[in-house]
Amino acid sequence: MKSKTSRWAGKVALVTGASSGIGAATAVALGALGMRVVLAGRHRARLTATARRVHATGADALVLTGDLARADACRRLFQTTKRRWGAIDVLVNCAGIRGGNSLLATPWHELDTALRLNVAAPLLAMREAVAHMRGKRDAAILTLGSMVGHRVLPGVPALYAATKHALRILSDGLRTELAARRSPIKVALISPGLTDTPWHTNRGGIRRGGKPFPYAPLRPEDVARVAVQILETPRHVQIRDVLLNSSAQPH
Ligand SMILES: NC(=O)c1ccc[n+]([C@@H]2O[C@H](COP(=O)([O-])OP(=O)(O)OC[C@H]3O[C@@H](n4cnc5c(N)ncnc54)[C@H](OP(=O)(O)O)[C@@H]3O)[C@@H](O)[C@H]2O)c1
Repeated sequence: MKSKTSRWAGKVALVTGASSGIGAATAVALGALGMRVVLAGRHRARLTATARRVHATGADALVLTGDLARADACRRLFQTTKRRWGAIDVLVNCAGIRGGNSLLATPWHELDTALRLNVAAPLLAMREAVAHMRGKRDAAILTLGSMVGHRVLPGVPALYAATKHALRILSDGLRTELAARRSPIKVALISPGLTDTPWHTNRGGIRRGGKPFPYAPLRPEDVARVAVQILETPRHVQIRDVLLNSSAQPH
């Protein structure tokens, strides 16, 4: 049920990748804080399913579709949000793809799409969000990195790991630029280990063919809870990086 006591209640969050997995769970958790949540992704039916879950918390949800690998669609997402609900207070950069297994054999267009969706789109979204957040006392930009952006794990595709490493550096750089402007915007990178989402079932991940995970993964709600904890810190506290994995993860 929706919280009326959170200082974020009534404010606007934009969550990319809200149609499934971690993004959907985060959107629901922000709804439970009393936030109005913009749900972005390509698939309207899946976003509408998330909207139903947000509504069940008592919060408002707005579904906006678009391919965020395209800069024009990303800009349009912010323009439409501003026109419909005003400036956002929280951005959650969650949309991402794996982008193929091989630097040499994966077709270039797949690698290019991953670079645009996993790196260019979150950076553009950060720029748009900062413009929205000008003058606000409470605002936050949360980006989904990955454990593999911090350390090399066996079998992880290099391009994907590189995009997540880039997000780590971009988040640090953004925080530094904002600090020089004495901006109160919180900037955090959340880097989960293996998490049980459609990523692993639908898109050629480890659980293909219905095989179980090699160990018990995190649940999307575990990651969403971290996003809420970052928002709920006092204004003077800045959580920069959170790495989390299931206690069963062996490396
Ligand atoms: N699952 C894990 O083990 C794990 C671990 C560490 C980090 N992460 C990160 O967590 C984030 C969410 O992943 P997830 O596990 O929740 O996977 P997921 O369920 O596959 O979610 C991916 C989201 O990205 C959206 N998306 C994909 N391509 C898009 C595009 N071109 N334009 C707009 N949206 C697009 C998808 O929505 P549409 O299909 O509707 O477009 C979906 O909502 C990703 O950044 C991932 O790198 C995941």
